[in-house]
Amino acid sequence: MYKEKILNLLRSSRSGFVSGEELARTCGISRTMVWKHIKSLEREGFTITAVPSQGYKITSLPDILRQGDIKRGLKTRIIGKAIHLLAEVASTNTLAMEMAAKGTPEGTVVIAETQTGGKGRLGRKWISPRGNLYLSVVLRPNIPMHKAPLITLMGAVAVASAIRTTCGFEAGIKWPNDILIAGRKVSGLLTEMSAEQDRIRHIVLGIGVDVNMDLGALPPEVRSFTTTLAAEAEAVIDRTSLLQQLLRDLEGWYEKFLANDAAVLEEWKKLNLTIGNRVDVSGAGETLKGLAQGVDNEGRLIVRRDDGTLHTVAAGDVTIVKK
Ligand code: BTN
Repeated sequence: MYKEKILNLLRSSRSGFVSGEELARTCGISRTMVWKHIKSLEREGFTITAVPSQGYKITSLPDILRQGDIKRGLKTRIIGKAIHLLAEVASTNTLAMEMAAKGTPEGTVVIAETQTGGKGRLGRKWISPRGNLYLSVVLRPNIPMHKAPLITLMGAVAVASAIRTTCGFEAGIKWPNDILIAGRKVSGLLTEMSAEQDRIRHIVLGIGVDVNMDLGALPPEVRSFTTTLAAEAEAVIDRTSLLQQLLRDLEGWYEKFLANDAAVLEEWKKLNLTIGNRVDVSGAGETLKGLAQGVDNEGRLIVRRDDGTLHTVAAGDVTIVKK
């Protein structure tokens, strides 16, 4: 508690400097205790300079997520009301599914700095080094089961929108929910659901965004089609601001989805990079080749083969064939 207060005092100081005496007085603790908290902040990665007669000053911030920073100025009603921030977990999705089964409220967000067993679509692994965003959001929508896939499209719209707002990149969506910048993947979404008969108990929307990681941490075959926001910007990205914007956009789009799911599909179509292109769709046996003609009301991809036949695909991997 005092450590957070000291951090806030240092960060809000106009000159950057706050004397040990002032920190001790404002917190109501001894100067020795102030010094101990400063040392603890240094262990967390802050660089703090101490100048005689001026006091302490933060000279560099670590790239770590902090609960207080995320909550400050967030102002969402549902998404992120409860945030569980972990240094490491097997998979935020798995943990969020367990928490949801035990009744955690809608909008609960589980975030981790790194995952040891991150899960991707179609049974793949999601390699999760430090520096990125890994989060899972618990949702309890009162919708028929066949509408559930639209939640993933809604999440993709929110991620693309948050990246556009925070970083200014023209992020687009490759069906169903890969977020691409200039043809390379920067984010993916994995939705898991618990249901009985035609009633959804809960949905967990898992989001991974490649932000500041070193691309060298990925195996070459993944690296070739992946990018990070930092690589695109050629600068370190403030993950807290991006996360806050993502939670706001998720809330905005979730509310729109509940009121009128067609609005989400409309926005998804505006951001999509797939429709109108020739595609190869793999995943379920034989590769389907043809023209991506559109998506149906449940977000399934409609592909027209060269023989004119139409095929509807619920899950798969799309490769956009270059013209
Ligand atoms: C994909 O294959 O494109 C989907 C990747 C989804 C990764 C995210 S990271 C946070 C959440 N926890 C997981 O284990 N997976 C999702």
